[in-house]
Amino acid sequence: MAATHSGSSLLKAVPMLLLFSSGFILGMISIANFPKFYESPLLSPMLHSLVPSSSRPIMQPSPSPETPCVWPPPLPSSTPTPAPSPPSTPTGLMGFLAPSGVTHNMTDEELLWRASMAPRVSRAPYSRVPKVAFLFLVRAKLPLRLLWEKFFAGHGKELYSIYVHSDPPFAASLPTDSVFYGRMIPSQRTTWGDANLVEAERRLLANGLLDLSNERFALLSESCIPIFDFPTVYAHLTGSNDSFVDCFDNAGAHARYRPALFAPHNITAAQWRKGSQFFEMDRALAVEVVSDERYFPAFRDSCAGRRGCLIDEHYIPTLVSLLRWRRNANRTLTYTEWRPRRPHPRSHGARDVTEELFGKMRGGAGNCTYNGKASDVCFVFARKFSPDALAPLLELAPKVIGFG
Ligand SMILES: *[C@@H]1O[C@H](CO)[C@@H](O)[C@H](O)[C@H]1NC(C)=O
Ligand SMILES: *[C@@H]1O[C@H](CO)[C@@H](O)[C@H](O)[C@H]1NC(C)=O
Ligand SMILES: *[C@@H]1O[C@H](CO)[C@@H](O)[C@H](O)[C@H]1NC(C)=O
Ligand SMILES: *[C@@H]1O[C@H](CO)[C@@H](O)[C@H](O)[C@H]1NC(C)=O
Ligand SMILES: *[C@@H]1O[C@H](CO)[C@@H](O)[C@H](O)[C@H]1NC(C)=O
Repeated sequence: MAATHSGSSLLKAVPMLLLFSSGFILGMISIANFPKFYESPLLSPMLHSLVPSSSRPIMQPSPSPETPCVWPPPLPSSTPTPAPSPPSTPTGLMGFLAPSGVTHNMTDEELLWRASMAPRVSRAPYSRVPKVAFLFLVRAKLPLRLLWEKFFAGHGKELYSIYVHSDPPFAASLPTDSVFYGRMIPSQRTTWGDANLVEAERRLLANGLLDLSNERFALLSESCIPIFDFPTVYAHLTGSNDSFVDCFDNAGAHARYRPALFAPHNITAAQWRKGSQFFEMDRALAVEVVSDERYFPAFRDSCAGRRGCLIDEHYIPTLVSLLRWRRNANRTLTYTEWRPRRPHPRSHGARDVTEELFGKMRGGAGNCTYNGKASDVCFVFARKFSPDALAPLLELAPKVIGFG
């Protein structure tokens, strides 16, 4: 204790320390005698001055670390007071709510566990603006980035967050003023149709869940585009009571159900579903997806050693069915043009980008319901667009999408 004092204060402190420590030692020798000792006229004033008038127990074996400022009493000279043990900065609620960046060194196991935590008090004790998390699952490129930059331009960061999963990492470095700058999450390699795609989706969801303001989670790829402006997309997503996980059940959808693999995990053919990989879900469903430890291993194992097992088109739709998740529209918000008997949807190049195409995509398939009512809008995103579509998209955007 005294070691931290300068010489002069030490000199003045010594008698008091001696007095106190002799009292302390005596007290330790015989606790029973201490009251008498305390009553001795010599010591009691001293102890009274040392011990605050509060009911501090006199028999403290040693001063607690936060008391050195009153022990010895402050001296008039400006000798430095002993540095108190490092003060812990109080962390306000906001410190827990939003991570400042997206980099971390958590393993997948650590990340999923952390992301699976959900508050149980339903009413947030702060003004909560729901954010949309845009989850980009890409391979080293974001060829339509400039269109997305224009989509986000001018809209507050309190309304959205961006996460990019890319392995290998981006080839070109991003300009620092890009909305994608610094939004790369720790990623791992993905392969078409493989279980690692679903692992990447769960990783994206988990990173998004770390920000408690994220309320809706939309999966996108490098060939996806927005087909409405930001305010429309934001309102459509945050205003919906349902998640949009494409989820259908027909004979064709059952083609990849393998009884020997799935039945032992209590996943029956009747529960099996298929659907587009491109989901848009709410926070509650996202928590279910990252915390599923019951079914995901079965899906992952079913892909081991097989190419193109397509669990990215079965796992989440089937999980939604297994969980008997009610708040789901059973359709995707991402427009896609499938062609008969082709494994990949049509890709739109520069020459396909016309006002008519946008009319078709924005008009949707018709007959969509939104919060239980008929809606003109079936889709807010579309795919696939090849890199050469960028120039005509940028040109048409102000007129047909409403930004840029
Ligand atoms: C992450 O970093 C912290 C602090 O540097 C370290 O203690 C921890 O072991 C690291 N975790 C992993 C999974 O590398
Ligand atoms: C499947 O369901 C049965 C009966 O409910 C249960 O005993 C068994 O543990 C379940 N198996 C798995 C892998 O969950
Ligand atoms: C979605 O499908 C499930 C059955 O798979 C059904 O129970 C639910 O009502 C459907 N939701 C809507 C909005 O149609
Ligand atoms: C919409 O629903 C009506 C009546 O159910 C049906 O006649 C029509 O074909 C549907 N349109 C589309 C595009 O599915
Ligand atoms: C959305 O859900 C809330 C809470 O369950 C409910 O009160 C509200 O009526 C729902 N809105 C629509 C349009 O279904």
